[in-house]
Amino acid sequence: MSLRVITLESEIDWPGFRREARTLLASLVPPDEVVWQTPAHPAPELWQSEAQPRPAPAPPSRRPLGGSGPARLVVPPAFITLCEKVVLHQDPQRFALLYRLLWRLVHERGLRQDPLDPDRLRARQMLQSVRRDMHKMKAFVRFRPVGQPEGEPPLSVAWFEPEHHIVEAVAPFFVRRFTQMHWAILTPECSVRWTPAPPDGPPLAGEGALPGELEFGPGASRTQAPGPDEGEALWLTYYAHIFNPARLKLSMMTREMPRKYWSNLPEAQLIAPLAAQAAERTGRMVQAAASTPRRRIPIRAPLPAADDAGDPRETLASLAQATDRCRDCPIGEHATQSVFGEGALHPPLMLVGEQPGDQEDLAGHPFVGPAGRLLDKALEELGWARESLYLTNAVKHFKFELRGTRRIHKSPGQREVLACQQWLEREIALVRPRAFVALGATAARALIGRAVPVMTERGHWLSGPDDIPVLVTLHPSALLRGDPAERDTAWRAWLDDLALASPYLAGEEGAVTRSRAEA
Ligand code: URA
Repeated sequence: MSLRVITLESEIDWPGFRREARTLLASLVPPDEVVWQTPAHPAPELWQSEAQPRPAPAPPSRRPLGGSGPARLVVPPAFITLCEKVVLHQDPQRFALLYRLLWRLVHERGLRQDPLDPDRLRARQMLQSVRRDMHKMKAFVRFRPVGQPEGEPPLSVAWFEPEHHIVEAVAPFFVRRFTQMHWAILTPECSVRWTPAPPDGPPLAGEGALPGELEFGPGASRTQAPGPDEGEALWLTYYAHIFNPARLKLSMMTREMPRKYWSNLPEAQLIAPLAAQAAERTGRMVQAAASTPRRRIPIRAPLPAADDAGDPRETLASLAQATDRCRDCPIGEHATQSVFGEGALHPPLMLVGEQPGDQEDLAGHPFVGPAGRLLDKALEELGWARESLYLTNAVKHFKFELRGTRRIHKSPGQREVLACQQWLEREIALVRPRAFVALGATAARALIGRAVPVMTERGHWLSGPDDIPVLVTLHPSALLRGDPAERDTAWRAWLDDLALASPYLAGEEGAVTRSRAEA
């Protein structure tokens, strides 16, 4: 057997991998004849010398993909989404695994129906690990200011140690989040710096539509990152004050904030002393007489106009703040915070749920708890990128009932849904989706304006606000609560419902049959 050594330009050379994989596949080169090498993981010398030159595409008669060569290769969109993330994994075998999967997808019909196949399982684990690492980088990067020469704009620098090759993939998030700030993130493998365009200077190259310059450079060491500053002392004081000893759950905390990240998180030094005092402080709280809030917030903040000519993202941010202070119904008084929608502006789809759950209430983000994880799994199956959608809820605060220390979800009443309707309407006016997916009866009612029997209307398009189509389906928590024996069937049926909206993601909404839409 002759081996072919394929050289990729970098650890995250996704275009190179895609190009080479297509050529190999079209030339019928099986995966066990290919060795993938990257600058950090060169193939062993022995293989280098055995290696064959890059294959020429097979003549048309040998091509397995039906005709005109590599360009005709069609794989499920979910596989492409998977590859884009898995190439960022640190495992040197990732390219071999992806090519093997691609080969098997084309040559083994049964693979698509076998979610327990070891290659598929390994790829899924890698995908989840990369996603987790990206999420942790977004959550745990802490910038510290560094002294700059007179006249230079202030620079903030952070140190982070990602597990995978994710810096390039996560950098645009920081550009969007800290567009006006001059910042750098140092990691052992590479560094990234953002220089915003000066307010009155000539525009720099830009990251997408944002004015500034994003540059990547070599890795750095922790000693090159700045030490603590005054702002950090303030942050530690704040952290110690908001720490609620009665809510302490160390196992959950370490799951969310694994110990390996603690050395770079200033607040982590407070966890041990705060945890040690938690039981005693909770005891004192239980003994103390109940207090009433000194100041209720009876009125909501002034409403930003929905058709505000300003930046819709800013208007959405003010709306989110205003919902936090909303006391038009009693739910807000007991919730930790409001949970506003998140996602792309003018998206193909706005997914609307019922209300945030316990984990969403604590995190301040929609669909991050068990129902959110199930939804993410469905998005992945469908090949829908979560970032391209907008996710929100009909009700913006978490309604619950206390059972011991547990907060049990309680469905919002019609009065509460109506009180929240104004926020949803303003959000829709700013986000301007092309279609909605109503997850469950509360969302369907809020969007369609009447009670919708979800079990009979599921999988149908109805007419929503401004005649925008609404696809009705179940809420993911209905699947979580459902009969375990029926789970697989329920899951497939739910995916089938959701898939009706896929044409919107492909920009082919014309393909959605009018007959299913109720004018
Ligand atoms: N359920 C919802 O409806 N929304 C969330 O954000 C989480 C769970």
